[in-house]
Amino acid sequence: MTNPPESNAELQQTARRNLWMHFTRMSTYVDSDVPVIVRGSGPYVFDNHGRRYLDGLSGLFVSQVGHGRTEIADAAHRQASELAYFPLWSYAHPQAIELAERLAELAPGDLNRVFFTTSGSEAVESAWKLAKQYFKLTGQPERYKVLSRDIAYHGTSMGALAITGLADIKYPFEPLPPGGVRVPNTNFYRAPDFVADDITDFGRWAADEIERAILREGPESVAAVFLEPVQNSGGCFPPPPGYFARVREICDTYGVLLVSDEVICAFGRLGHYFGSARYGYQPDIITFAKGLTSGYSPLGGMLVRDAIMEPFTRGTATFLHGVTFAGHPVSCAVALANLDIFEKEDLLGNVRRGEAGFRATLEKLYDLPIVGDIRGDGYFYGIEMVKDKDTRETFSDEESERLLRGYLSTALFDAGLVCRADDRGDPVIQLAPPLICGQEHFDEIERILREVLTEAWTRI
Ligand SMILES: Cc1ncc(COP(=O)(O)O)c(C=O)c1O
Repeated sequence: MTNPPESNAELQQTARRNLWMHFTRMSTYVDSDVPVIVRGSGPYVFDNHGRRYLDGLSGLFVSQVGHGRTEIADAAHRQASELAYFPLWSYAHPQAIELAERLAELAPGDLNRVFFTTSGSEAVESAWKLAKQYFKLTGQPERYKVLSRDIAYHGTSMGALAITGLADIKYPFEPLPPGGVRVPNTNFYRAPDFVADDITDFGRWAADEIERAILREGPESVAAVFLEPVQNSGGCFPPPPGYFARVREICDTYGVLLVSDEVICAFGRLGHYFGSARYGYQPDIITFAKGLTSGYSPLGGMLVRDAIMEPFTRGTATFLHGVTFAGHPVSCAVALANLDIFEKEDLLGNVRRGEAGFRATLEKLYDLPIVGDIRGDGYFYGIEMVKDKDTRETFSDEESERLLRGYLSTALFDAGLVCRADDRGDPVIQLAPPLICGQEHFDEIERILREVLTEAWTRI
């Protein structure tokens, strides 16, 4: 559908006057149009000029089943007509109960208890609060610190931000709640020299750094370690072999909870319902959001092991935490319909069958001088761009600014690809297409990237 030009002018004027976009330099849109996306179909979205874009980021790691699924919209309609809202504060509704049971069945091990939220930040915030209260209830009240990795993103609320490892987005809001401690991430491409030759040694070192941090802080003060199965920020760092087995061992040794932040990595992104299942580790808490509903309605939450829940089942014990819209009936109905599609269309199977092709197609780009490293798993990849392939020299802040913000982001979009050019670590392009994608979409992604990255190289 193409809107008449006046309508676009009106939208632009109103957007400039009234809308505040997230993590957005609003000055960018003083002289240029705000991109306005009006509809979606499968892995594609369309703007208000009728132009089509391949949604190579699933919106924001969200649209697992793709756009325009009327069966999910119908489920939302039915639920809103029957019971649009009731809180989970001392009440329940059938959709939350059914979804909690279904998630517990899908989750690894004894992660049987579901606490819903509305977003990923709230899920992370809830997990830290739960860890703190759990230790207060079980006689270890001094445990409150949380370990997380350099450059990792865990959300924007104050607690989640304190767990986040990105200095630039924390600084304006300091002081943050105390207790956030950083450990190294698993970027093997940038491994320190003494472990740069062997990925297993590197993984062992990175995991052992968690132990060293626990000992440095004092084990009696550490509540939890927050880790994504594949770290997104910085450009997709999969875990080295043995990493999570060693982390689990360390957590058990020091009585620290292992929180797997799967806000991106759950619900098929890595070909499994949960990223921890792919890498074979048992978390104490899993945080999730995004893909659970494929974005047809917001919903997040955490899955909690029986043993962590247990002290809250006695006497007057209460987890003193909640939000109004958590486990919203419409969102739960949407999540159930979304999971039905996962099953009916074997989306996990599609990712497992498709991922080798995705990787091989992206790896064709290694012939470009700007492509330093291509990494990821499942349908989740990062491409690190470098100034010099041999030395792995990265771009200066000024070059990065010119390349990513000045050229790449817009050029990729103009060429018909939604993805993300990110410089929160080294400059990377992030890709996470809907799980319905196949080889034709990977080819389209590769073609656009090749064209735009080739041009980018001439502009450095
Ligand atoms: C790993 C991780 N945790 C938490 C969050 C925060 O989720 P939300 O934006 O839904 O608050 C994100 C968002 O991208 C994320 O990637």
